[in-house]
Amino acid sequence: MKTKKHTGTFYGIGVGPGDPDLVTIKAVKALKKVKYVFEATSGPKKDSIAGRIAKKYYSKPTKFMSLVFPMVNDSKTRNDAWKKNAGIVAEKLLSGHDCAFVTIGDPMIYSTCSYLLAELRKLIPSLKSEIIPGITSFQTAAAKSQEPLVEDRETLTIIPSFSSGIAAELKKYPSDSIVLMKAFRTKKEIAAYIRKNRCTAIFASRLCLKGELVTSDIGVAEKYPEEYLSLFIVKKKSRNG
Ligand SMILES: C[S@@+](CC[C@H](N)C(=O)[O-])C[C@H]1O[C@@H](n2cnc3c(N)ncnc32)[C@H](O)[C@@H]1O
Repeated sequence: MKTKKHTGTFYGIGVGPGDPDLVTIKAVKALKKVKYVFEATSGPKKDSIAGRIAKKYYSKPTKFMSLVFPMVNDSKTRNDAWKKNAGIVAEKLLSGHDCAFVTIGDPMIYSTCSYLLAELRKLIPSLKSEIIPGITSFQTAAAKSQEPLVEDRETLTIIPSFSSGIAAELKKYPSDSIVLMKAFRTKKEIAAYIRKNRCTAIFASRLCLKGELVTSDIGVAEKYPEEYLSLFIVKKKSRNG
């Protein structure tokens, strides 16, 4: 790898849930000052929502580059992609260029950014980095539905819910509110749990994007097509209080 005396700074930037107006001023400032902006895609020529948002704010001569991170269960394939892509970013950093990696929502909540950062630290132990927080999907769902996530002494649990059987586990979480992210294949079983336990719940899909749905009507949620960008906010308190 070509090394310059001066190594660039790595910025992990959260660009929010999909609405360009929900990008922070700090994120915009960073996008304007870096030489390279990296976006994650699930395959060659696939779209990146985070990249699409970031493109509204970058100014030339900043260059956009796509990094492919296959969305597969096989951990070796995923590890190999993190390493390979970290190598691409590290090369630019070691050439003295500031680089940004943009991610939907917040970079520290279930994001490729944290894996990339860990690999970069291995390649460049003296890495200079900054993480710029973004508005998360579930904060946006709470805001759009005007239902508080938590209030007073209530507690919150956030769980990834892509595996079947998740609904059966919900009772074991003691918190008052549960955010179920990645609720696409498991939507039906979560909806059945909400119905059976008469929970107050919000279902949100494609927030701030074309086809957005935010509803407290479980029947409507059930009918909505399976969509990766989906989540539930489930309240332990039943509808009857
Ligand atoms: C890999 S995680 C990314 C989370 C993101 N870093 C955040 O802070 O919200 C992907 C999951 O986040 C949720 N998500 C992200 N963006 C969303 C959106 N625009 N609408 C609904 N859910 C979204 C969905 O549960 C999706 O399966």
